[in-house]
Amino acid sequence: MCGIICYLGDRPSLPILLNGLRRLEYRGYDSSGVAVAVNEKIHCRKAVGKISDLAGLLGDKPWTGWGGIAHTRWATHGVPSPENAHPHGDCRDRIFVVHNGIIENYRQLREELRDKGHRFRSSTDSEVLAHLIEEYYRGDLEDAVNSALQRVDGTYGIGVISAGNPSQIVVARLGSPLILGIRDREIFAASDAAALMSHTREVAYLHDGEVALLKPGSYRIRTLSGMPMNRSVQTLDWDMSSAEKRGYPHFMLKEVHEQPEVVGEAIRGRLIEAEGLAKLGGVERVWSRLRNMRRLIILACGTSYYAGLLGRYVIESCTNYPVDVDLASEFQYRKLNLQARTAVLAISQSGETADILAVVREVKRRGALSLGLVNVVGSTVARLTDAGIYNHAGPEISVASTKVFVSQIAILYLVGLLLGRHQQMSLSEGQEFVHELRALPGRMRSMLARAPAIEEIARRYARHRNLLYLGRRFSYPVAMEGALKMKEVSYLHAEGYAAGEMKHGPLALVDESFPTVCLAPRDSVYRKMIGNIQEIKSRKGPVIAVGTEGDTHLAELADDLIEIPQCGEMFTPFLSVIALQLLAYYVARERGCDIDRPRNLAKSVTVQ
Ligand code: M6R
Repeated sequence: MCGIICYLGDRPSLPILLNGLRRLEYRGYDSSGVAVAVNEKIHCRKAVGKISDLAGLLGDKPWTGWGGIAHTRWATHGVPSPENAHPHGDCRDRIFVVHNGIIENYRQLREELRDKGHRFRSSTDSEVLAHLIEEYYRGDLEDAVNSALQRVDGTYGIGVISAGNPSQIVVARLGSPLILGIRDREIFAASDAAALMSHTREVAYLHDGEVALLKPGSYRIRTLSGMPMNRSVQTLDWDMSSAEKRGYPHFMLKEVHEQPEVVGEAIRGRLIEAEGLAKLGGVERVWSRLRNMRRLIILACGTSYYAGLLGRYVIESCTNYPVDVDLASEFQYRKLNLQARTAVLAISQSGETADILAVVREVKRRGALSLGLVNVVGSTVARLTDAGIYNHAGPEISVASTKVFVSQIAILYLVGLLLGRHQQMSLSEGQEFVHELRALPGRMRSMLARAPAIEEIARRYARHRNLLYLGRRFSYPVAMEGALKMKEVSYLHAEGYAAGEMKHGPLALVDESFPTVCLAPRDSVYRKMIGNIQEIKSRKGPVIAVGTEGDTHLAELADDLIEIPQCGEMFTPFLSVIALQLLAYYVARERGCDIDRPRNLAKSVTVQ
């Protein structure tokens, strides 16, 4: 969502800040701004639109200040405008603040500050922070920030700079991530590691309720109540090439093509072939609680939710555990008996999704075992949960999630194998499962080689207005995910449905102008899917089928066929999802959409 980058050091800060903002672009934004301290004054510029618009405003005479703060904003309170963009200044433009999160009591604080004579220039909640800090400022920026934050209800990740203390930046967090980056005589702070990676891999994570005073090359962390905190420096293992397009026109296409390696990475070191077992180091600490659970609840949002939905089919096929899957945003309204023998698995690429954080906190409070499946190392979900598993998929830059989806499902299959082998799954079934998992990267590469055929099909359907996606059993969550991908990147109206539900409503939509994507690999539900396709065809509906290679019957029935390589029934989602990701990508490209940064969307949804 919004992004923060701060810098203090021995190089001119403006190019570093602008470069950091470019690295944050993928998160989604509508305006941006930068403030730099120059000779005990703060210079600030803000612009609506792209970072290039902001850079254009700054012209070719950059300010030569060694410290500054910058922000990409995604509007929540107030329209996208230069006034509402961050940094926000105080009345005298001596203190500037960038803020991610929501100040819930901002109306009340604004009224109080107005009564004291403060003048507000924006309609944002964030601006109150600048004025509140101004109100408490007596020459010590850290103290003023600390006092101001005691008055705030809500969530924040902030960076603050002042003309009075130009060689300091104060940052703080509560419910919105902030990472410190350290390099020689330089210090960085960012809401996302992607903004730091080109400068340093040495990072320290700020925790909720902490304030850090940054100086060139050093930092000091204290809690809001003033207690000093030691925080060790960790080395990020993400490599820079993940944040570059490396010749691909879009990050989405690059990330789709990375999927064989991502699955390889997810299963690397986690399989014991001879014993047909999975080994997940991250859950070993809680193994006896996990093994003795009565029920597993998977919670997630968006694409991660569809991964969870598939995880349910897989884990229930491998084990006797009942598995529930719920949207994190809806879970809070359910009245459930969450006791110690319930395990909750939160799935989140970013590990910062607000709805997930809310449910994880609630689950912990109620005493259930909380587990995380997270891509971003050190993220809040990773730190809040009792135990967890990392995807190791590297940074995902495209807003539309692709490679992390396949990584999530690969790990859920490992969970199925791990639990299944401790229940009724036999040695030979376990070995076969391992064999199928190991064969996936090669099969996924063959699938990717079919991209030109999918591109051709996409061209023919790019001008339609609606698409229906149907699947059964393991293919049902893939249909849902395929429809979401199409909506997100191409802005076509696409609906995912369980094929068995077709006759209960959506069939009414079908005619010659309404195409349906049917997932029909040769599996246990194949005949039923063929029945669905026949029903669509008898109403003249165009059908794009995704089926097993060599299926001549399906080829005759469907208008277009995307073939997937032969594989075990449970493993088809790894191949069919590639077909649907590429279909969405090429349709979006044909329609001229901003594929990596779809309108109105953000990479990480940090507000509920
Ligand atoms: O970071 P998370 O996995 O918690 O994010 C969940 C959703 O916001 C995310 O999957 C979203 O639906 C993506 N844009 C899907 O492509």
